[in-house]
Amino acid sequence: LQEVSKAMAPSVEQFSSTSWRPRLFDNKVLFCTGGSGSICSGQVRALVALGANACIVGRNHDKAKNVAADIALVRPGSIVLGLGGVDVRNHESVKEAVETCVQRLGGIDFVIAGAAGNFVSTIDDLSANAFKAVVDIDLVGSFITAKLTLPRLVASAERARTNKDLDSSSLTGGRIIFVSSTNYQCARIAQAHVCAAKAGVNALSDCISLEYGPRGVTSNVIAPGLIDDTEGARRLTDPTLRNDLIRSVPVQRLGLIKDISDATIFLFADTGSFVNGATIDVDGGAWRIRAAG
Ligand code: HXC
Repeated sequence: LQEVSKAMAPSVEQFSSTSWRPRLFDNKVLFCTGGSGSICSGQVRALVALGANACIVGRNHDKAKNVAADIALVRPGSIVLGLGGVDVRNHESVKEAVETCVQRLGGIDFVIAGAAGNFVSTIDDLSANAFKAVVDIDLVGSFITAKLTLPRLVASAERARTNKDLDSSSLTGGRIIFVSSTNYQCARIAQAHVCAAKAGVNALSDCISLEYGPRGVTSNVIAPGLIDDTEGARRLTDPTLRNDLIRSVPVQRLGLIKDISDATIFLFADTGSFVNGATIDVDGGAWRIRAAG
């Protein structure tokens, strides 16, 4: 009996083959929209630190280039492209960026659809065009990003399936993550445009998980709550109410950019291979308190 239970006991090697480690994402390429922003640049930095090369795209040329150069410092020898002039609402500009990424980096294994727009406005003050601007960036932009990169992700999943002789990092590939918000399931005053857009983003990811799962691609959502020291937090919160905000989160702290990076690594590594069509709320449980009133 002892021999049997010894044989069934998980070995350290079994765990170390799936845990996060340097070079986990060696030879992988990440394409990220909104990659110059605070949350997404943290996600990209984590992947690059663990071996990936990356292409970040955004509307502002200087910001994309500077953030890419800064991320590249995290690992000598990494390649991080920063492509400006890319508006996710514009199919042609995303298409060009995807082609540049494939030409320069050899393919796309992971996608983060993170470009987002936000401002605080009640419905009284929200024009139809303002509502549409956010839906176009968050939802239509996510669709355009997915539509143009999914064929690359299918190819990556196929490569991962057939490269069984390489180390375990090569077994992962063909993954997309949408950065949504806990506003997708819990209404918030002055955020009708964002709540509607993010609910759509979640539904889009769910549908991709069904249509592309059989082709080896997983699609998931990370829904950040209030993440400290980000553009979103600065736009949405009053700094004088910081302590009240912290008290309103069940785990009694604000989120860190690292919390979002950790969830990203989990989903992109072997650890996330059976997670598809899921949403990970990274908000310390805050939306449940909001929902409970
Ligand atoms: C009401 C506003 C407004 C405001 C713009 N509009 N700001 N309406 N209150 N504060 C209206 C404009 O008057 C116009 O409507 C319409 O929105 C489009 O505005 P433009 O400036 O022409 O659009 P554009 O240049 O495309 O800018 C898009 C934007 C902008 C979303 C409005 O804020 C932007 O570019 N944001 C990108 C960066 C960003 O928002 N990052 C935050 C991400 S954080 P009219 O009727 O006048 O034509 C995040 C976190 C979410 O998303 C997490 C939540 C918890």
